[in-house]
Amino acid sequence: MAVPIVLDCDPGHDDAVALLLAVGSPQIDLLAVTTCFGNCPVSDATRNALRVLTLAGATQVPVAEGAAGPLVGEAALGNYVHGRTGLDGPDLPEPAQSLLPETAVELLARTLREHPEPVTVVVTGPMTNVGQLLRDEPEIAEHIAEVIFMGGGTQGGNHTPTAEFNTYADPEALDIVLSSGVPVRMVGLNLTHQALATPEVVERMAAMEHLIGRTCAGWMGFFGSSYRDVWEFEAPPVHDPCTIAALIDPDVIEWREVFLAVELDGTWTRGTTVADLFHRYPDREPNAKVAVRLDAERYWDLVLGALDTLGAPVEAP
Ligand code: BDR
Ligand code: CA
Repeated sequence: MAVPIVLDCDPGHDDAVALLLAVGSPQIDLLAVTTCFGNCPVSDATRNALRVLTLAGATQVPVAEGAAGPLVGEAALGNYVHGRTGLDGPDLPEPAQSLLPETAVELLARTLREHPEPVTVVVTGPMTNVGQLLRDEPEIAEHIAEVIFMGGGTQGGNHTPTAEFNTYADPEALDIVLSSGVPVRMVGLNLTHQALATPEVVERMAAMEHLIGRTCAGWMGFFGSSYRDVWEFEAPPVHDPCTIAALIDPDVIEWREVFLAVELDGTWTRGTTVADLFHRYPDREPNAKVAVRLDAERYWDLVLGALDTLGAPVEAP
């Protein structure tokens, strides 16, 4: 049976691939998409999500716009990685569907309550919408199968030397989720830096004889140049689809059960995740699973296979 999910995202090149992977995989039942500030202001993230769903021919998926900033403090933005629009690169079709009048938190709450079984909440941007939902309606927890998120890491950051972008952007929201009792899985940088779109991977995208493959290859070109310029990477890590891949194939990622926390107060370390891999806090019980190893070959076969099957439902703009 397909895994029912809602995808809360801030597209973003790798969020866009995660969206396509979710739409293109029969093992996933994409019930709703909600957006958040992050890689760009939230209005751009929403427009990008709608355009990617249009590209995928998935205009039936309900979409609602979420937070413009974090629960505490000012919005951090990732346009320095994802470009002016948040999804710079190949042209995309104009959205063929409209945004719901509900907020992201309202759509999340309604979708979770209406679904007959608990739903998996996938978060590939800052945790703001889900943190707000669990803060304001804690009883919603019983409708959540788990929260699986891309963010943090077991060692080292990208937005700051120690903090990954998504967890830096709203640590208070992540803290609420980690304390909520909901099962949590973290897919951090230590894992996603194993998911590199090497020239061979990009070549396989470009060789697909349809718009989706060519568009993904174009996105990787833009994303790759950002990663070269900002972090001196030779190939860009395609972070966000790792969350969806883990739901499709349990063998693609290896996990460790740990005590996981996020720094709220550090002078230099705000937003840094602390994953107690070696039980250095013996009085702390595990509250999360963290991803530790990716089978990269299996990951790319799965992602590229889904993109290729999805094909080209709309004409080039
Ligand atoms: C995360 O931040 C964004 O740049 C990506 O979309 C990903 O979710 C990586 O740190
Ligand atoms: Ca993202």
